[in-house]
Amino acid sequence: MVSPLRGTMPPDDLMIRIGVSPESFPTREAREDFYNDAGRALYECVRGAVPHEDGQAILDFGCGTGRALRWFATEPDLRIAGCDIFAPSIEWMKSSFDPAIRLYVDDAMPPLPEADDSFDLIYCGSVFSHLTAWAPWVLELRRVLKPGGALVASLHGRGFWNIGLHGSRGVPWDEDGTGLLVEYYGAKFEDSWGPAVYVSEWWVREHWGRALDIERFEPTGFAQPDNLETGQAWVVARKPRDTTPLTPADLESPSTDPREAVAALRGQRLAYEEVETLLLGQSEHARGLEAQAADLARRLGVVESSKSWALTKPLRSLAQQVRAR
Ligand SMILES: C[S@@+](CC[C@H](N)C(=O)[O-])C[C@H]1O[C@@H](n2cnc3c(N)ncnc32)[C@H](O)[C@@H]1O
Repeated sequence: MVSPLRGTMPPDDLMIRIGVSPESFPTREAREDFYNDAGRALYECVRGAVPHEDGQAILDFGCGTGRALRWFATEPDLRIAGCDIFAPSIEWMKSSFDPAIRLYVDDAMPPLPEADDSFDLIYCGSVFSHLTAWAPWVLELRRVLKPGGALVASLHGRGFWNIGLHGSRGVPWDEDGTGLLVEYYGAKFEDSWGPAVYVSEWWVREHWGRALDIERFEPTGFAQPDNLETGQAWVVARKPRDTTPLTPADLESPSTDPREAVAALRGQRLAYEEVETLLLGQSEHARGLEAQAADLARRLGVVESSKSWALTKPLRSLAQQVRAR
């Protein structure tokens, strides 16, 4: 039997956008294995929370190259759609996936070209973990979910902290003092992973919980198979049967929980430290380049004072004359 996954491994220049790079995985085989296994783990997580039902309408929001979608595509009797802001990923997907899967490029901000109450399940792998415009998108995904429909999203929480900018410089994870904290604010998806958005469970329950019923929160739910303490958090949230109209500001405004102020102040302090760290990194980089240039000049000096350099001088003048003609 022909595998329904045949032809659904993207080229390296698209795989790299989810961190599957030749630097980390030197052979194509290793890259494909990781892509395959990570996508399958993501799919199994989503399916563990929301099992298959015939006729389910599903949206992969921020589908990239369909790392998880390709597994959903093996299930019968689903209506699948996927969207992403990165056109080359969607173009590649259109040329590689079953045309029955509806794929399109969406805009960086809502709305999506979807009717109200369209989907039974929307999942987002590594999207809200990079989305600073989280509130407009939570509301937009709520709009297009059917009442009772589920949003399953991965998030950066404590399991990802140590890999990030502050965690890797020794700042410990602080559940109460994180709330919503952004690293690499302003970074673009076009040339990197975008910003890194960290959240605490209490913050998600408080802020996302104003729009959706939070059914589950797993702090390291999308764990790396080799270390269950690392990996993204994930949330399963449902659209209430009756929704009240809300604006992004309604979702963002701080509550009276004292952790809000603690987290906001800590976030501000860490943002300053991030700028300092980046500036320090830049000056270290500049110092490194200066040292490299000095070393090259020294090595050139050694070559120019060598016997062989003196002996080959006539050859070099000849080459110069030939080039000049
Ligand atoms: C880290 S990648 C994950 C891709 C895919 N979900 C996966 O797990 O392989 C994040 C994706 O989110 C997409 N993205 C970011 N903002 C978006 C938005 N507003 N709408 C749709 N996609 C978005 C990016 O272009 C990128 O493909």
